[in-house]
Amino acid sequence: MFISAFTIPTCTYAQKKDQNVHSEPHQIPHLNKQGKTYQLIDDDKPFLILGGELGNSSFTSLEYMAPVWPKLRTMHLNTILAPVYWELIEPAEGKFDFELLDQLVKEARNNDLKIVFIWFGSWKNSMSSHAPSWVKKNQARFPRIKDDKGISHEILTPFSENNLQADMKAYQELLRHIKITDGNDHTVIMIQTENEIGMLPTARDFSSPANERFRENVPAELIQYLERNKETLVPEFSEIWGKTGFKNSGTWEEIFGTGLQTDEIFMAWYFSKYTNSVAGAGKAIYPLPMYVNAALNRPLVKPGSYPSGGPLPHLMDIWKAGGTSIDFLSPDFYSPDLKHWCDLYTRQGNPLFIPEHRFDSTVAAKAAYSIGHYESIGFSPFSVESSGNPENEPLGKMYKILGQMTPIITAHQGQHKIEGVLLDKQNQETVLKMGNYEFTVRHSYTLGYEKDSGKDTWNMTGAIFVQTGDDEFYIAGSGIVVTFRNLVNPSLNVGILKDEEGRFENYNEWKVIRYMNGDQTHQGRHIRIFSDDYSIQRFELYNYD
Ligand code: DGJ
Repeated sequence: MFISAFTIPTCTYAQKKDQNVHSEPHQIPHLNKQGKTYQLIDDDKPFLILGGELGNSSFTSLEYMAPVWPKLRTMHLNTILAPVYWELIEPAEGKFDFELLDQLVKEARNNDLKIVFIWFGSWKNSMSSHAPSWVKKNQARFPRIKDDKGISHEILTPFSENNLQADMKAYQELLRHIKITDGNDHTVIMIQTENEIGMLPTARDFSSPANERFRENVPAELIQYLERNKETLVPEFSEIWGKTGFKNSGTWEEIFGTGLQTDEIFMAWYFSKYTNSVAGAGKAIYPLPMYVNAALNRPLVKPGSYPSGGPLPHLMDIWKAGGTSIDFLSPDFYSPDLKHWCDLYTRQGNPLFIPEHRFDSTVAAKAAYSIGHYESIGFSPFSVESSGNPENEPLGKMYKILGQMTPIITAHQGQHKIEGVLLDKQNQETVLKMGNYEFTVRHSYTLGYEKDSGKDTWNMTGAIFVQTGDDEFYIAGSGIVVTFRNLVNPSLNVGILKDEEGRFENYNEWKVIRYMNGDQTHQGRHIRIFSDDYSIQRFELYNYD
């Protein structure tokens, strides 16, 4: 049975496909703000990236990728994040070779996958490993950074116009090629410019041009940005600047004090300006959304021991000031505290996209949580093709339902109608406000029925909630049990009027699979999805004395 449970303001997917036969070509993928939320618009519809980043060397041959494509489909990915090596597309200066890339893009398109390209240009995890040999072997023309002992490392310095021009030209050629070959298909939807930028092994570059710049006054462009945004600067940065009384002219050390924090701020500015020039040059040709990603720092580790000056939360203001062509800053997660870092990355209206997360047992839950709670553009575990058992990957099961939920999620973004939960043994319960209701969401193991409930560690579970009417909601996810309270009139009891398990077909048609009642709702007391189940339910609440 089909029920049209919600309507999307524009038209259905089927109608849209039909219209496209005669209509204008779709707009280039772009970001659009709906309420407080940035959406990625692809082929004129909001798109959620249910992604996976490929291992660094996988996307370099058709042969290697051949057995990977079926795995990606089985796991219900809609997007891959895949590197473009500068050394492979420009093997000799000015001679570009896109043959391999074209074949790989064609394969992605045949497999119904979108691509976010990762530009391994000047920097890949701080290093310049992917620069072509004609760059690597000509250090006089393409200079490197030096550490505090005067030793150079395989890292191109951001203080060289030659380095910048070479990177910019290659990036522009890449964007030109994408525009020509993919400008109608839009298989490529976004670009990450460089990868995990940051200075190692010292907090700043000590090469001569870097030292010269360090002795100069802080550029007026940065000071003006900081003064304009003084009230909304991130507190970690404001505290540093405040120590010199928000001084607005002088050298880096006069304005930000002497120490590693200033070395890092200095690097952040020049890294952001360089990357911004690369992104801007690319956008001038083909303005896809562009972002940068960061290797997250750890507490008590000093800049230089982690990549100093990268697009980290405490340097957000510097990157925003220098990176006007960069659409957002993104965190890569190889440390566990997702909530902490996402809270930091969503300040100042920065759209959240998680381009990398260790491919561990938590990713399915975190995909739902990041899209639900932070209304993120998408989620993408790293080395996703390494799965040995794609049919049973929790990520695939979660992506399957999130894919079905995408129209309903995106239609309700930016309006306080979406939430997400992330639960484990340490965080067994979350309380949400959804319209006039309070939802108490508990880990399903709290019921004690499931076989692993007694274990010391619990599977991380997660779910997303969408409010579609005053009393109507959808939930998609795994391992949760929900009870309700009326917030407006707490003396009223809240009952479950209807609960259906189902799926979306043909874009937005709700098909009921089971009418849930009896044991499945504890005779009307709660909504529940066990932890080995990944499913969608539509439910309606009502109130009684
Ligand atoms: C973060 C990087 O951005 C990736 O390219 C990859 O190197 C992973 N670390 C882990 O290996």
